[in-house]
Formats: sequence, structure tokens, C-alpha cells
Amino acid sequence: SVQNGQDLRSPICCIMGHVDAGKTKILDCIRGTNVQEGEAGGITQQIGATYLPAENIRERTKGLKADAKLNVPGLLVIDTPGHESFTKLRSRGSGLCDIAVLVVDIMHGLEPQTIESLNLLKMGNTDFVIALNKVDRLYGWKTFRNAPIGKAIRQQSKDVMSEFNRRLTEIITQFKEQGLNTELYYKNKEMGETYNIVPTSAISGEGIPDLLLLLVQWTQKTMITRLTYSEKVQCTVLDIKAIEGHGTTIDVVLVNGVLHEGDQIVVCGMQEPIVTSIRALLTPHPMRELRVKGTYLPHKEIKAAQCIKIAAQELEHAIAGASLYVVGPNDDIEAIKKSTVEYKNSVMSRIHKSGKGVYVQASTLGSLEALLDFLETPAVNIPVSSISIGPVHIKDVKKASAMLDKKKEYGTILAFDVKVTPEARKLADENGVKIFTADIIYHLFDQFKAYIDNLKE
Ligand code: GTP
Ligand code: NA
Ligand code: MG
Repeated sequence: SVQNGQDLRSPICCIMGHVDAGKTKILDCIRGTNVQEGEAGGITQQIGATYLPAENIRERTKGLKADAKLNVPGLLVIDTPGHESFTKLRSRGSGLCDIAVLVVDIMHGLEPQTIESLNLLKMGNTDFVIALNKVDRLYGWKTFRNAPIGKAIRQQSKDVMSEFNRRLTEIITQFKEQGLNTELYYKNKEMGETYNIVPTSAISGEGIPDLLLLLVQWTQKTMITRLTYSEKVQCTVLDIKAIEGHGTTIDVVLVNGVLHEGDQIVVCGMQEPIVTSIRALLTPHPMRELRVKGTYLPHKEIKAAQCIKIAAQELEHAIAGASLYVVGPNDDIEAIKKSTVEYKNSVMSRIHKSGKGVYVQASTLGSLEALLDFLETPAVNIPVSSISIGPVHIKDVKKASAMLDKKKEYGTILAFDVKVTPEARKLADENGVKIFTADIIYHLFDQFKAYIDNLKE
């Protein structure tokens, strides 16, 4: 897309907010998918990404009869977990994004992770709009499926309107207490100083057209320089996953530049930096979630901004959250390798200095990091002696059993979202090593706590 001869990339938009505010459901409503109902416990535990092409946005915003001139090729949306133990993942998500949507449940107002998200946005100097979600829960709300919000509100009863206004005013006051001016976007006369509120329903779709149009129009109006496409590759690894038929793959967000099949790349690894070549560049279909298993489209090359699954050899020990580098013909590989290890060292140094503590295992470095954050919080406070990524094997049980002599309860493996091999399970039973598995982080804590309480009795 061209504006004044400039080539704009898609804005990257991060969805943030308190747990269950409706972040994933809003995306489901936009995509016409049902990702949220497939989540364990209805909770998002990984960063997700979806590409929304301009033509879909145009279609979806038709009802607004706005001059929806779209200069950007689309919108890349990143979904984040709202549970309190995911601070690290959220900060990573917001660090990547050009704009954010802060989702607030109109029935609840500002909640702890709303405020935490706000603080992350302030720290990162990230612009955002507020989705005041779940308006359909106002008592007596009349549904106008996928309608612009102004139109839907005008047709509500007097009671609904006054209830809406009462809650809106209250929430504007709560934002004020956080030092922010906010206003309904269609009444906002100080765009840029006063943050925009878009009332939405992720269930019946009211306000979703407004949200999409505002995101696109606002970014392409105020962020031309930032969104001007640059050739220099800027790419972050979100996750590492084994995918049937592709081996271990990495999910990345390409912010700038082009990736090609066959490119030599360097990513951060558990032991040392990994140097490999791109075997396949895969994307989900447009309007589909990257983190949901499905069919992937292969590409010879992909231009930013996009979310991409990369297949290559030796990615088993890659680490999420760090940058991916492309080695150009004149680049010094050793210098590139050096710059990849910094982030890894920061995570791996987080095991307990005493050498005493439980063994922690998780599916991705992102979730491992989140789990370590959680175990470190004062209310939980469980020391960790060793960490690992991937399924629980015999070697892990052996390592954990070495703790049994130091303190019985530390002879424990907390396994998040990973499988336990039958051999490992058998050895654990023989040695008296406890293995707790869960796909919701705080359930691990509940199990471990019950075990300790039981030991004390
Ligand atoms: P986490 O990812 O776990 O932080 O939650 P989330 O913010 O992604 O919320 P999610 O999409 O999981 O929605 C939480 C619950 O609220 C689900 O039961 C949704 O069906 C419901 N919900 C979300 N949006 C709306 C809405 O606009 N109206 C109504 N009535 N329910 C909604
Ligand atoms: Na949820
Ligand atoms: Mg979610």
C-alpha cells in the first residue's frame, strides 16, 4: 500500500487486560472462530497471533459508512494471557506492538491486571484504545448483531442507556484515578490526549466495526514513520513448538524486513546460539490463530509485518522471547551469536542459589518464565533448583530424586503443559519423586501445596 510514495507495513496490535475481560473472544468475534472455548479452563496461556487482511477489515467496517481508506495492508493482532502470573509474556507482547487494545469488562471496571497492563503500556510509551466489553450484559440490552456501537446504543431503552452511562462515567473516573483522561471515541474532541473508549460486545459484535476502524485509521494517521516498512530484518521468537510433519518449529513475529526460504538464521539456544537455515516458512490462513493447530500455508518469502511459523533443523533447543537474526553475505556470524545469548542468561540464572528447590518443567521458555515468575511471588514462594523445557524424561526424574535427601518436598517435578514418559513415571514411583502436571499454572501450586500440607500432618 502506498501513501505519499511510502510503503507501510501492517500495524502490530496487542490485546491486553484482566483475565476473562474478553480478549480472546473479541478476536473470535472478528475472525469468526471459536478459539476461546477450546482453551483449557477458558484461559489463554500462550501468546497468539492473527493476521487480519485489509479487505476483511473493509468488509467488517462497511456499516460505519466511513471513508475507510486503508493505507496499511492489514492488522497483525497479538493475543496475550490475562492471568496474573503472565507478566513476562505480556511485557514481551506489548514490547512488540505499535498499538494496544486494553479490554475492560463493563460489569467489573478496572481490575488488577487492567492496571498492570496500563502500567506496562505507560512504561513502553505504547498508545492504546480501550474496548469497554460485554455491553450485551447490561440488563435489557437489545442485540444488533455486528452493528456500529452508536447505532446500537441509540436503539436501547432509556433504562439500558442510563445504566450504560452510569457504568461508563464510573469507569472514566477510575481511569482518571490512574492519571488518564478517557472518553467515548465518537465524543472525543482531544484525540491523542484523551484515550478513546469503544464499547463492544464480543458475543453479539456491536462496536467491533468501530474498534477495527479506529485501530487502522488511528495508526495510519499518527504512526506513518514507525509503520514505514524497513528492509532491515526485525524479528522476535514467540514460541517453540513441535508440529507433526514439520518437527520442531518456531513461531515468530516479523516486524520489518523479508524472510526467505533458505535464509541462514541465528536464534538463541539453551546451550549455545543456533545457526540454521529456514526449511519452510508457514503461516496460518488469514483470520486464523497461529497458536491453534491447523493447516499452514507455505511461502517462498514473506514480508513484514507477519506472524510466521518457521521450520528448520536444530530448533529443539531454541528459546522464545529473543530476536531472530538473518545472516547476510557480509555479516560476522560470531558477533551475531554473541548478541543472542543475553536474554537466555537472564532466564537461566533464575534458579535458586542454595541449590535446593523443586524441579520445574514447561512446554516453552515463555511459559517456563511465567511459571518462574509465579513461583517467585511472595504468596507462593517455592524455590526452584533446576529447570527444563519439554517432556519429563528419566534423566529429569533422576535429577529431581537427588533433592529427596535435602528436603523431601523438593523431590518434586512441577510439569506445566508437558507429557511425562511412562518410563519416567515408573522411575518416579519407585524413587518417591512426585510429579505434578497441569495445564493451568496455578493448579500446579494448589497440588504442591496440598502435598506439603499432607507431609506436615
Ligand atoms: P484470558 O485470556 O483468560 O485472560 O481471558 P480473556 O480476556 O481472553 O477472556 P475470554 O475471551 O476468555 O472470555 C472470558 C469469558 O467471558 C468467556 O466465557 C466469554 O464467553 C465471556 N465473554 C467475553 N466477551 C464477552 C461479551 O462481550 N459478552 C458476554 N456476555 N460475554 C463475554
Ligand atoms: Na478467559
Ligand atoms: Mg484469552
